[in-house]
Amino acid sequence: MTGNTVAVIGLGAMGIVAVKNLLEEDFDVTGFENSGYVGGLWHYTEDRDTLSVLKDTQVNVSIDRGCYTDFPFPKGTPPFPSASMVEEYLEAYVDHFHLRPHLRLNATVERIVFVDEKQQWRIDVHGEDARHFDRIVMATGPHVRPSMPHVENSRLLTAEFIHSKAFKRPHDYAGKRVLLLGLGNTSGDIAHALVPHASSICIAHHRGALIMPRLINGQPVNRLVTQRRINTQDFIERFSPSLVEKSLNKKAKEVMTNSFGVPKPEWGLEPAPSMMVATPVVSDTLIDHFKSGAVASVPGVRQVVGPRQVELEDGEVIEVDAIICCTGYQNDFGILDPRYDPSASQNPHWTAAPGSKGRPLPRLYQNVFSLEKPESLAFMGCAWFPTGAFLLADLASMSVAQIWKGNSDLPTREAMQNWVARQEERMVALAQRGSPVPASVPQREWLLWADATAGLGVFERLGWGLRGWLFWWQERDLWRMLMDGVLTSVMWRLFDQGKRKPWTGARAELERLNQEANQW
Ligand SMILES: Cc1cc2nc3c(=O)[nH]c(=O)nc-3n(C[C@H](O)[C@H](O)[C@H](O)COP(=O)(O)OP(=O)(O)OC[C@H]3O[C@@H](n4cnc5c(N)ncnc54)[C@H](O)[C@@H]3O)c2cc1C
Ligand SMILES: *[C@@H]1O[C@H](CO)[C@@H](O)[C@H](O)[C@H]1NC(C)=O
Ligand SMILES: *[C@@H]1O[C@H](CO)[C@@H](O)[C@H](O)[C@H]1NC(C)=O
Ligand SMILES: *[C@@H]1O[C@H](CO)[C@@H](O)[C@H](O)[C@H]1NC(C)=O
Repeated sequence: MTGNTVAVIGLGAMGIVAVKNLLEEDFDVTGFENSGYVGGLWHYTEDRDTLSVLKDTQVNVSIDRGCYTDFPFPKGTPPFPSASMVEEYLEAYVDHFHLRPHLRLNATVERIVFVDEKQQWRIDVHGEDARHFDRIVMATGPHVRPSMPHVENSRLLTAEFIHSKAFKRPHDYAGKRVLLLGLGNTSGDIAHALVPHASSICIAHHRGALIMPRLINGQPVNRLVTQRRINTQDFIERFSPSLVEKSLNKKAKEVMTNSFGVPKPEWGLEPAPSMMVATPVVSDTLIDHFKSGAVASVPGVRQVVGPRQVELEDGEVIEVDAIICCTGYQNDFGILDPRYDPSASQNPHWTAAPGSKGRPLPRLYQNVFSLEKPESLAFMGCAWFPTGAFLLADLASMSVAQIWKGNSDLPTREAMQNWVARQEERMVALAQRGSPVPASVPQREWLLWADATAGLGVFERLGWGLRGWLFWWQERDLWRMLMDGVLTSVMWRLFDQGKRKPWTGARAELERLNQEANQW
């Protein structure tokens, strides 16, 4: 029998919800955080070694699904709030659920080792005595290690050459010629921040991209996705995956051209890779900046040819004062006992696939549970599909709490290994065609698992069985809201299946959000 003490490592948005959901199931939880605050990257800092949002970063997932399942943003919050509003929200969450007594700030975890004799985990915190815990939740964030691209002859550069993590103050670039490497949300945000300051801004990229606005006809774009759409898509996908892919790409392109007009060839946006293998860039401003000439799109970089000269793939040489690599991050579990590091061994087909780009694939059951120690080691932030990160971590940690409590079961070790093998196959296939987020899990399948494991009770009410039919009969309005309405986080706290706690305010909040959406 494994005991009751749990250490949660990292108190960003994913760590605090894990602390809360485990406390709610009577675990004895301690959270450890390196910095002096909770909320992780949502806390703006000018420290160039610490990842944070930019001062005026806007969230890219609307708050109806960007929030936790039992704690909406305050009334009156705009659908895409600023980073500082998100930080306030996270602080309020910690207070509301009385988490502070369980949190240790300014506590850097240096090493986590499984002690076989004790059958416990030993945690070494910088400057303190070692402590032992029965179970561990890793929530150190998906952005531990910046990925720097290899740029030929970069040693010749005297121009600034940094990762986007170190980009903090746009006005430092006043009058400078800036080259951003990679076209994504980060370069879109940074380019926009630089427009009033830099003398020129180029974004270098190899592939096309879909650019999506946040709002369409005053509604958050992600509201186009309803539960019914997910179900239908899943249904069609079983018979004709390519049909789904085609219609998805067509729809996305429509949204893009309706919002911004037909893209010009010189922006290099077309052909955009399929939505199945690359996620769209969310930016309300990038296309306007392309149109006005404030930001230029250029081909990829071939090599550095002088201290401030870069040759592009088309042979053109451009002058730069700064190169900012918007090339993303990697997970890194270096503090963990290597025997239990889920990225220590890598599938060679993944590593060889062009889209893997040296990023590790986490080998975890449902991208949450350690294969070696599922009863005592779980991970937040390794399971991803396009929705709010707070919601994903909420669902994942509810599932962990129910399994560790014994209310839900893990399958056999063999079944878990088979799941991971199938997941790897899926990822290898995607990485042959594009560059998927390594943590991607199949949305509906993963939600079905979390629903059953945490006891959410949503899918059986929307299904074809007796329960579904009865629910449709008795609760027509609620059924419709769940099926065709706003895809909210709170819907996952509506029902009580005797597992995770429901939230009594969920229904009123769901109704309020749907009403608000209809009025827009
Ligand atoms: C620039 C940017 C913008 C984003 N925008 C959005 C958005 O709009 N919407 C959205 O849903 N998602 C967004 N994301 C995704 C983001 O991953 C999630 O929103 C979420 O905040 C991640 O939370 P986290 O807790 O996993 O990571 P983090 O916020 O990185 O938190 C991890 C914490 O762990 C701590 N830690 C790390 N190592 C140790 C250690 N050894 N000991 C102790 N503590 C440690 C760190 O100090 C940090 O506080 C964005 C990401 C980035 C990089
Ligand atoms: C953490 O350290 C910072 C900087 O040294 C300090 O200002 C803060 O009070 C500390 N916080 C806690 C909770 O110990
Ligand atoms: C940008 O943000 C969007 C919107 O949430 C997301 O779906 C997508 O994964 C991100 N794109 C990239 C290239 O990271
Ligand atoms: C929002 O943007 C961040 C940073 O680019 C990205 O990691 C994340 O995946 C995006 N959100 C969604 C829902 O994809």
